[in-house]
Amino acid sequence: MKAVRIHAFGGPEVLQIDEVETPVPQAGEVLVKVVAASVNPVDWKVRAGYLQAVFQQSFPIALGEDFAGTVAAVGADVTDVKVGDEVYGSIPVVRGGSYAEYLIAQAGDYALKPKSLDFAQAASLGVAALTAWQAFDTAGLSAGQKVLIHAAAGGVGSMAVQLAKARSAQVIGTASARNAEFVKGLGADEVIDYATTKFEDVVKDADVVFDLMGGDTQARSYGVLKRGGWLVSAAQPPDAAQLQAYGLHGQMVGMRPDKAQFEALTALIEASKVKPIVETILPLTDIRRAHELSQTGRTRGKIILTMA
Ligand SMILES: NC(=O)c1ccc[n+]([C@@H]2O[C@H](COP(=O)([O-])OP(=O)(O)OC[C@H]3O[C@@H](n4cnc5c(N)ncnc54)[C@H](OP(=O)(O)O)[C@@H]3O)[C@@H](O)[C@H]2O)c1
Repeated sequence: MKAVRIHAFGGPEVLQIDEVETPVPQAGEVLVKVVAASVNPVDWKVRAGYLQAVFQQSFPIALGEDFAGTVAAVGADVTDVKVGDEVYGSIPVVRGGSYAEYLIAQAGDYALKPKSLDFAQAASLGVAALTAWQAFDTAGLSAGQKVLIHAAAGGVGSMAVQLAKARSAQVIGTASARNAEFVKGLGADEVIDYATTKFEDVVKDADVVFDLMGGDTQARSYGVLKRGGWLVSAAQPPDAAQLQAYGLHGQMVGMRPDKAQFEALTALIEASKVKPIVETILPLTDIRRAHELSQTGRTRGKIILTMA
Protein backbone atom coordinates (compact mmCIF):
# COMPACT_ATOMS: atom_id res chain seq x y z
CA MET A 1 0.00 0.00 0.00
CA LYS A 2 0.99 3.64 -0.32
CA ALA A 3 1.80 5.63 2.83
CA VAL A 4 3.28 9.08 3.35
CA ARG A 5 6.39 8.87 5.49
CA ILE A 6 9.44 10.95 6.32
CA HIS A 7 12.98 9.63 6.61
CA ALA A 8 14.42 12.92 7.90
CA PHE A 9 13.04 16.11 9.44
CA GLY A 10 12.65 19.11 7.15
CA GLY A 11 10.36 21.09 4.87
CA PRO A 12 7.52 19.69 2.74
CA GLU A 13 10.14 18.17 0.41
CA VAL A 14 10.89 15.41 2.95
CA LEU A 15 7.34 14.04 2.53
CA GLN A 16 7.52 10.84 0.49
CA ILE A 17 4.88 8.43 -0.74
CA ASP A 18 6.40 5.02 0.10
CA GLU A 19 5.27 1.54 -0.88
CA VAL A 20 4.91 -0.43 2.39
CA GLU A 21 3.40 -3.71 3.63
CA THR A 22 -0.32 -3.48 4.37
CA PRO A 23 -0.63 -4.06 8.14
CA VAL A 24 -2.51 -7.03 9.59
CA PRO A 25 -4.93 -6.34 12.47
CA GLN A 26 -4.13 -8.10 15.75
CA ALA A 27 -6.63 -8.87 18.51
CA GLY A 28 -8.76 -5.81 19.24
CA GLU A 29 -7.60 -4.00 16.11
CA VAL A 30 -9.36 -2.95 12.92
CA LEU A 31 -7.84 -2.53 9.46
CA VAL A 32 -9.39 0.52 7.79
CA LYS A 33 -9.22 1.16 4.06
CA VAL A 34 -8.77 4.92 4.19
CA VAL A 35 -10.85 6.99 1.77
CA ALA A 36 -9.93 10.40 3.19
CA ALA A 37 -7.60 11.84 5.83
CA SER A 38 -7.20 15.36 7.16
CA VAL A 39 -4.16 17.53 7.76
CA ASN A 40 -3.53 18.95 11.24
CA PRO A 41 -0.81 21.45 12.21
CA VAL A 42 0.75 18.76 14.41
CA ASP A 43 1.60 16.86 11.21
CA TRP A 44 3.91 19.55 9.84
CA LYS A 45 5.28 20.21 13.32
CA VAL A 46 6.28 16.52 13.52
CA ARG A 47 7.64 16.66 9.95
CA ALA A 48 9.79 19.68 10.80
CA GLY A 49 11.17 17.98 13.93
CA TYR A 50 9.64 20.51 16.36
CA LEU A 51 7.96 17.77 18.45
CA GLN A 52 10.81 15.27 18.59
CA ALA A 53 11.15 15.65 22.38
CA VAL A 54 7.40 15.09 22.86
CA PHE A 55 6.81 12.03 20.69
CA GLN A 56 10.32 10.50 20.48
CA GLN A 57 9.59 8.72 17.17
CA SER A 58 12.21 6.99 15.06
CA PHE A 59 12.43 7.06 11.25
CA PRO A 60 10.64 6.32 9.06
CA ILE A 61 7.76 8.29 10.60
CA ALA A 62 4.27 7.83 9.11
CA LEU A 63 2.11 10.96 9.35
CA GLY A 64 -1.57 11.73 9.92
CA GLU A 65 -4.22 11.08 12.58
CA ASP A 66 -7.69 11.77 11.17
CA PHE A 67 -9.37 9.34 8.81
CA ALA A 68 -12.62 8.11 7.30
CA GLY A 69 -12.95 4.86 5.40
CA THR A 70 -14.32 1.34 5.40
CA VAL A 71 -13.45 -1.59 7.64
CA ALA A 72 -11.35 -4.00 5.54
CA ALA A 73 -10.58 -6.63 8.22
CA VAL A 74 -10.99 -7.08 11.96
CA GLY A 75 -8.79 -8.83 14.53
CA ALA A 76 -10.04 -11.24 17.17
CA ASP A 77 -12.36 -9.81 19.84
CA VAL A 78 -13.62 -6.93 17.68
CA THR A 79 -17.40 -6.89 17.96
CA ASP A 80 -18.41 -3.26 17.45
CA VAL A 81 -17.76 -3.15 13.67
CA LYS A 82 -17.63 -5.62 10.78
CA VAL A 83 -16.01 -5.69 7.36
CA GLY A 84 -17.64 -3.10 5.09
CA ASP A 85 -18.76 -0.71 7.85
CA GLU A 86 -18.02 2.96 7.20
CA VAL A 87 -16.06 4.52 10.08
CA TYR A 88 -14.27 7.72 11.01
CA GLY A 89 -11.94 8.77 13.80
CA SER A 90 -8.35 9.50 14.72
CA ILE A 91 -5.27 7.53 15.64
CA PRO A 92 -2.68 9.00 18.04
CA VAL A 93 0.38 10.70 16.51
CA VAL A 94 2.71 7.97 17.77
CA ARG A 95 0.64 5.28 16.03
CA GLY A 96 0.48 7.29 12.75
CA GLY A 97 -0.44 7.57 10.10
CA SER A 98 -3.64 8.15 8.29
CA TYR A 99 -2.02 9.57 5.14
CA ALA A 100 -2.10 6.02 3.78
CA GLU A 101 -4.28 3.58 1.89
CA TYR A 102 -4.79 1.47 5.04
CA LEU A 103 -4.32 2.01 8.77
CA ILE A 104 -4.70 0.06 11.98
CA ALA A 105 -7.20 1.52 14.46
CA GLN A 106 -7.68 0.33 18.03
CA ALA A 107 -10.80 0.38 20.19
CA GLY A 108 -11.62 4.00 20.97
CA ASP A 109 -10.06 5.38 17.78
CA TYR A 110 -13.24 5.21 15.67
CA ALA A 111 -17.02 5.23 15.49
CA LEU A 112 -19.50 4.62 12.69
CA LYS A 113 -19.43 7.44 10.14
CA PRO A 114 -22.40 9.83 10.30
CA LYS A 115 -24.68 8.74 7.44
CA SER A 116 -25.27 12.32 6.31
CA LEU A 117 -21.55 12.96 5.69
CA ASP A 118 -19.27 11.94 2.86
CA PHE A 119 -15.83 10.55 3.67
CA ALA A 120 -14.01 13.87 3.21
CA GLN A 121 -16.36 15.60 5.63
CA ALA A 122 -16.08 12.78 8.18
CA ALA A 123 -12.27 12.79 7.93
CA SER A 124 -12.23 16.48 8.87
CA LEU A 125 -13.68 15.90 12.32
CA GLY A 126 -11.52 13.81 14.64
CA VAL A 127 -8.70 15.93 16.05
CA ALA A 128 -10.48 19.27 15.55
CA ALA A 129 -13.75 18.31 17.20
CA LEU A 130 -12.36 16.19 20.04
CA THR A 131 -9.73 18.78 20.97
CA ALA A 132 -12.52 21.34 21.46
CA TRP A 133 -14.73 18.76 23.16
CA GLN A 134 -12.04 17.79 25.66
CA ALA A 135 -11.09 21.43 26.28
CA PHE A 136 -14.69 22.30 27.13
CA ASP A 137 -15.03 19.22 29.36
CA THR A 138 -11.84 20.25 31.17
CA ALA A 139 -13.15 23.78 31.70
CA GLY A 140 -16.68 22.55 32.51
CA LEU A 141 -18.16 24.93 29.91
CA SER A 142 -21.90 25.11 30.56
CA ALA A 143 -25.05 26.88 29.38
CA GLY A 144 -25.00 30.66 29.71
CA GLN A 145 -21.24 30.90 30.27
CA LYS A 146 -19.13 33.28 28.20
CA VAL A 147 -16.30 31.68 26.20
CA LEU A 148 -13.63 33.46 24.16
CA ILE A 149 -12.28 31.23 21.36
CA HIS A 150 -9.04 32.31 19.71
CA ALA A 151 -8.48 31.35 16.04
CA ALA A 152 -12.20 30.64 15.67
CA ALA A 153 -12.00 30.19 11.87
CA GLY A 154 -9.42 27.39 11.87
CA GLY A 155 -9.82 23.64 12.08
CA VAL A 156 -10.26 23.41 15.85
CA GLY A 157 -11.81 26.87 16.21
CA SER A 158 -14.60 26.26 13.69
CA MET A 159 -15.58 23.11 15.61
CA ALA A 160 -15.17 24.85 18.97
CA VAL A 161 -17.60 27.63 18.05
CA GLN A 162 -20.26 25.10 17.08
CA LEU A 163 -19.67 22.83 20.08
CA ALA A 164 -19.78 25.79 22.48
CA LYS A 165 -23.11 26.87 20.96
CA ALA A 166 -24.35 23.28 21.29
CA ARG A 167 -23.65 23.74 25.04
CA SER A 168 -25.69 27.01 24.91
CA ALA A 169 -22.67 29.13 25.80
CA GLN A 170 -22.20 32.75 24.76
CA VAL A 171 -19.45 32.62 22.14
CA ILE A 172 -16.93 35.30 21.20
CA GLY A 173 -14.40 34.36 18.53
CA THR A 174 -11.27 36.04 17.20
CA ALA A 175 -10.57 35.99 13.45
CA SER A 176 -9.41 38.29 10.68
CA ALA A 177 -12.00 40.45 8.90
CA ARG A 178 -12.28 38.09 5.93
CA ASN A 179 -13.53 35.36 8.28
CA ALA A 180 -15.94 37.45 10.40
CA GLU A 181 -19.11 36.44 8.56
CA PHE A 182 -17.96 32.83 8.35
CA VAL A 183 -17.45 32.60 12.13
CA LYS A 184 -20.80 34.32 12.78
CA GLY A 185 -22.38 31.78 10.46
CA LEU A 186 -21.06 29.02 12.71
CA GLY A 187 -23.08 30.57 15.55
CA ALA A 188 -20.66 32.98 17.24
CA ASP A 189 -22.46 35.81 19.04
CA GLU A 190 -19.55 38.18 18.44
CA VAL A 191 -16.41 38.14 16.29
CA ILE A 192 -13.38 40.29 17.09
CA ASP A 193 -11.04 41.21 14.24
CA TYR A 194 -7.71 40.58 15.92
CA ALA A 195 -5.90 42.80 13.40
CA THR A 196 -7.80 45.96 14.34
CA THR A 197 -9.08 45.37 17.88
CA LYS A 198 -7.31 44.16 21.01
CA PHE A 199 -9.61 41.46 22.38
CA GLU A 200 -8.64 42.42 25.93
CA ASP A 201 -10.13 45.88 25.34
CA VAL A 202 -13.60 44.46 24.63
CA VAL A 203 -13.87 41.11 26.46
CA LYS A 204 -14.42 41.20 30.23
CA ASP A 205 -15.41 38.58 32.82
CA ALA A 206 -15.24 35.57 30.51
CA ASP A 207 -15.79 32.17 32.15
CA VAL A 208 -13.53 30.31 29.70
CA VAL A 209 -10.81 31.19 27.19
CA PHE A 210 -10.01 28.48 24.64
CA ASP A 211 -6.54 29.36 23.40
CA LEU A 212 -5.45 28.00 20.01
CA MET A 213 -2.62 30.48 19.52
CA GLY A 214 -0.34 30.50 22.58
CA GLY A 215 2.39 33.17 22.82
CA ASP A 216 1.30 36.78 23.08
CA THR A 217 -2.38 35.85 22.57
CA GLN A 218 -2.29 33.59 25.61
CA ALA A 219 -0.33 36.16 27.65
CA ARG A 220 -3.07 38.77 27.01
CA SER A 221 -5.89 36.33 27.84
CA TYR A 222 -5.57 36.00 31.64
CA GLY A 223 -7.02 39.47 32.24
CA VAL A 224 -10.26 38.86 30.30
CA LEU A 225 -11.32 36.03 32.64
CA LYS A 226 -13.34 36.38 35.83
CA ARG A 227 -11.78 34.97 39.02
CA GLY A 228 -12.30 31.22 39.11
CA GLY A 229 -12.45 31.12 35.29
CA TRP A 230 -10.60 28.70 33.03
CA LEU A 231 -7.81 29.23 30.53
CA VAL A 232 -7.63 26.04 28.52
CA SER A 233 -5.09 25.85 25.71
CA ALA A 234 -4.33 23.43 22.91
CA ALA A 235 -1.27 25.44 21.89
CA GLN A 236 0.87 25.98 25.00
CA PRO A 237 0.62 25.22 28.74
CA PRO A 238 -0.76 28.19 30.67
CA ASP A 239 1.66 30.00 32.97
CA ALA A 240 1.22 28.86 36.60
CA ALA A 241 2.24 32.21 38.09
CA GLN A 242 -0.25 34.10 35.92
CA LEU A 243 -3.04 31.67 36.78
CA GLN A 244 -2.35 32.19 40.46
CA ALA A 245 -2.08 35.97 40.15
CA TYR A 246 -5.49 36.18 38.44
CA GLY A 247 -7.16 33.44 40.53
CA LEU A 248 -7.76 31.16 37.54
CA HIS A 249 -7.72 27.51 36.61
CA GLY A 250 -5.70 26.49 33.60
CA GLN A 251 -4.62 23.46 31.63
CA MET A 252 -3.16 22.40 28.32
CA VAL A 253 -5.23 19.74 26.55
CA GLY A 254 -3.70 16.95 24.50
CA MET A 255 -6.41 15.37 22.36
CA ARG A 256 -7.00 11.63 22.81
CA PRO A 257 -9.30 9.56 20.57
CA ASP A 258 -12.48 8.61 22.46
CA LYS A 259 -15.23 6.43 21.03
CA ALA A 260 -17.98 7.80 23.28
CA GLN A 261 -17.09 11.34 22.20
CA PHE A 262 -17.04 10.36 18.51
CA GLU A 263 -20.51 8.84 18.97
CA ALA A 264 -21.82 11.92 20.77
CA LEU A 265 -20.37 14.06 17.97
CA THR A 266 -22.15 11.89 15.40
CA ALA A 267 -25.44 12.52 17.25
CA LEU A 268 -24.86 16.30 17.08
CA ILE A 269 -24.10 16.05 13.36
CA GLU A 270 -27.20 13.96 12.67
CA ALA A 271 -29.21 16.55 14.65
CA SER A 272 -27.72 19.31 12.40
CA LYS A 273 -26.18 21.06 15.43
CA VAL A 274 -22.61 20.69 14.11
CA LYS A 275 -21.35 20.62 10.53
CA PRO A 276 -17.91 19.80 9.16
CA ILE A 277 -15.97 22.62 7.48
CA VAL A 278 -13.89 21.41 4.54
CA GLU A 279 -11.93 24.12 2.77
CA THR A 280 -9.72 22.16 0.38
CA ILE A 281 -9.63 18.58 -0.93
CA LEU A 282 -6.38 17.34 -2.49
CA PRO A 283 -5.23 13.92 -3.71
CA LEU A 284 -2.54 12.15 -1.63
CA THR A 285 -0.04 12.95 -4.37
CA ASP A 286 -0.41 16.65 -3.44
CA ILE A 287 0.70 16.04 0.14
CA ARG A 288 3.50 18.61 -0.05
CA ARG A 289 1.05 21.27 -1.21
CA ALA A 290 -1.33 20.27 1.61
CA HIS A 291 1.39 20.89 4.20
CA GLU A 292 2.34 24.20 2.61
CA LEU A 293 -1.28 25.33 2.89
CA SER A 294 -1.60 24.23 6.52
CA GLN A 295 1.63 26.01 7.41
CA THR A 296 0.26 29.36 6.24
CA GLY A 297 -1.83 29.39 9.44
CA ARG A 298 -4.74 30.81 7.44
CA THR A 299 -6.79 27.66 6.87
CA ARG A 300 -10.56 28.07 7.18
CA GLY A 301 -11.79 24.72 8.53
CA LYS A 302 -9.86 21.72 7.25
CA ILE A 303 -7.62 20.48 4.45
CA ILE A 304 -8.49 16.95 3.27
CA LEU A 305 -6.43 14.31 1.46
CA THR A 306 -8.14 11.65 -0.64
CA MET A 307 -6.51 8.28 -1.32
CA ALA A 308 -8.16 7.32 -4.63
N1 LIG B 1 -2.98 19.88 21.95
C1 LIG B 1 -3.73 19.27 21.04
O1 LIG B 1 -4.19 18.14 21.22
C2 LIG B 1 -4.02 19.99 19.76
C3 LIG B 1 -5.00 19.50 18.88
C4 LIG B 1 -5.30 20.23 17.75
C5 LIG B 1 -4.62 21.41 17.48
N2 LIG B 1 -3.65 21.84 18.32
C6 LIG B 1 -2.94 23.09 18.06
O2 LIG B 1 -3.90 24.15 18.10
C7 LIG B 1 -3.55 25.15 17.16
C8 LIG B 1 -4.73 25.40 16.20
O3 LIG B 1 -4.96 24.23 15.43
P1 LIG B 1 -5.90 24.32 14.15
O4 LIG B 1 -5.96 22.98 13.55
O5 LIG B 1 -7.17 25.01 14.50
O6 LIG B 1 -5.01 25.30 13.24
P2 LIG B 1 -5.37 25.98 11.85
O7 LIG B 1 -6.58 25.35 11.27
O8 LIG B 1 -4.13 26.00 11.04
O9 LIG B 1 -5.71 27.50 12.29
C9 LIG B 1 -5.78 28.44 11.29
C10 LIG B 1 -6.59 29.64 11.76
O10 LIG B 1 -5.85 30.44 12.68
C11 LIG B 1 -6.36 31.77 12.57
N3 LIG B 1 -5.42 32.74 13.10
C12 LIG B 1 -4.13 32.94 12.69
N4 LIG B 1 -3.57 33.92 13.46
C13 LIG B 1 -4.53 34.33 14.36
C14 LIG B 1 -4.55 35.28 15.43
N5 LIG B 1 -3.48 36.02 15.75
N6 LIG B 1 -5.69 35.39 16.16
C15 LIG B 1 -6.78 34.65 15.87
N7 LIG B 1 -6.82 33.74 14.86
C16 LIG B 1 -5.70 33.58 14.13
C17 LIG B 1 -6.60 31.93 11.10
O11 LIG B 1 -7.66 32.84 10.93
P3 LIG B 1 -7.46 34.10 9.95
O12 LIG B 1 -7.13 33.51 8.60
O13 LIG B 1 -8.79 34.79 10.02
O14 LIG B 1 -6.31 34.86 10.51
C18 LIG B 1 -6.99 30.52 10.61
O15 LIG B 1 -8.39 30.39 10.41
C19 LIG B 1 -2.28 24.64 16.46
O16 LIG B 1 -1.16 25.18 17.15
C20 LIG B 1 -2.31 23.15 16.69
O17 LIG B 1 -1.04 22.55 16.64
C21 LIG B 1 -3.34 21.16 19.45
